[in-house]
Amino acid sequence: MPNPALDTPDSASRETAGMTSIPWWQQAVIYQVYPRSFMDSDGDGIGDLPGVIERLPHLVDVGVDAVWLSPFFASPQRDIGYDVADYRSVAPEYGTVDDAQALIDRCHDLGLKVVFDLVLNHTSDEHPWFTESRSSRDNPKADWYVWADGGTNRLGRPTPPNNWRSELVLPRAWQWGEERQQWYLATFLHFQPDLNWHNPEVEAEMTDMIRMWLERGVDGFRLDIFHTIMHDANLRPNRFRPRFRSGLPRLDDPVHTLNTDENFALGQRLRAVCDEFDGDRALLGEVFGAPEELQRYVEDEGRPGLNLVFLFDFLVAPYEAGRLRSLIARFEREYPAPHVPTYVLENHDRERSLTRLGGDERKARVMAALLCTLRGTSVLYQGQEIGMTNHPIPLREANDPIPHVVARWMPEWVHDCLPERLNRDEVRVPMQWSGEAGAGFTDPGVTPWLPFHDDHGTVNVEAQTSDADSLLNWYRELLALRHASPALRYGALELFDTDPDIIAYERRHDDERFVVVANLGERTVRHPVNDAQAAALSGPRIELRSSSVSLPPHSATVLRLG
Ligand code: GLC
Ligand code: MG
Repeated sequence: MPNPALDTPDSASRETAGMTSIPWWQQAVIYQVYPRSFMDSDGDGIGDLPGVIERLPHLVDVGVDAVWLSPFFASPQRDIGYDVADYRSVAPEYGTVDDAQALIDRCHDLGLKVVFDLVLNHTSDEHPWFTESRSSRDNPKADWYVWADGGTNRLGRPTPPNNWRSELVLPRAWQWGEERQQWYLATFLHFQPDLNWHNPEVEAEMTDMIRMWLERGVDGFRLDIFHTIMHDANLRPNRFRPRFRSGLPRLDDPVHTLNTDENFALGQRLRAVCDEFDGDRALLGEVFGAPEELQRYVEDEGRPGLNLVFLFDFLVAPYEAGRLRSLIARFEREYPAPHVPTYVLENHDRERSLTRLGGDERKARVMAALLCTLRGTSVLYQGQEIGMTNHPIPLREANDPIPHVVARWMPEWVHDCLPERLNRDEVRVPMQWSGEAGAGFTDPGVTPWLPFHDDHGTVNVEAQTSDADSLLNWYRELLALRHASPALRYGALELFDTDPDIIAYERRHDDERFVVVANLGERTVRHPVNDAQAAALSGPRIELRSSSVSLPPHSATVLRLG
């Protein structure tokens, strides 16, 4: 069921709660669509925008509020659209700008908000701006990217301007430009040159492009690796400090490349651009950094910046009540109202959550219950609602460029020892709509751009729709509860101190009160509920007595109090 309050364009932007109006992005569940793998409408094996439009009713059926589309702009697709060659046009295999407009309009008709993905840090090296920029030191676009002279070593070979590393851990961030005999900065992959946002022409062009999409009705943007944009203009070196972070080696303290003061200021300027438009347009930052840095993006000394930032901790945290409880407590402290934390279990870059949970669907249901009932904005990745898992693809067959870059400095056996394999193809295989040939993704007999997962015959939307006990129906039930309840959508959250295996909290708004109890342990646990009127609204066959609820191992329930 869609949120009735979001059903019509008029009421779409605001839900009134007494005198307070809660913008949509503070209470939304956002569904990430990876367009290349969502739905292929024209039988070329590649998902496309008309395909997304065709499948929007599924999003309404699941009960999400908004859709975020990974990039579908013109691109050589070496990083599947995260290498843009024209921000104002659509890649031909995905459709046209008219299709993008039809998608925006159709979302709004269905009561869904629509969020595009903006890659502001870099373009493709095939973007005409870069082709021009690299051609000489004095062309009109010469200063649109970050070019710098380096030195020469004893053998007379060019050496880079400074010690900056790429965000792919070990490779340097500088690439040699033969024509200019200069280096260009590429914070991510070598074919993704960084735009020079210190050049006012670049910012003017990019904000103009942002306005174009806002005028077309887009409700917000997910900002790709936003923490990397404003590097130090003087190219001061980072301090060498090798260590492991999140299981990966890091060589330096990136003070001159990531989360700089100028970067926070840029976030504030982009927010001002969005605020020129009606209807709560929102910016959701993909930013990595220390907790204080992430907080600073949303508010810096009273100045508003990005509306939301991804908190990725749930993506890597072990399935362990104590750890997750302390993360929730921390997010509550760091993002008190009027701010909200964000929750995410999966995306197109990271392992599937069910894979991380060892394939135990009970655990996936527990995590889903948290995702759908915690305070804030949650993000779901396509296929998560049916429990898609990683589809193993050998590293050397990867379409994803990362394994090939990483293979230059890391042998495969070391790669296999990492906390997570870096072949992102494994989580990007086509969406599983049905068990038929083509998986309901493309025409039977068509070879999709990435192989179908072996389990699509059994794990698919059609099969799970007709199975009352499916994971899909669990998500639907949870989201229907959420939509019917202001307390679950934007009520205050109080975390209880309880059994070490339990995560329990209350959500409250006016007189409405819910208690969510999740048992992440191996034994049945009895949790006290101090309200005679408690009623279990969802969950496994929960034994409910007036003063307590008994939860089997790895299960969760939502109780209404009073
Ligand atoms: C982000 C995207 C990822 C992409 C990278 C470079 O992390 O999520 O898919 O490869 O940025 O744009
Ligand atoms: Mg197609």
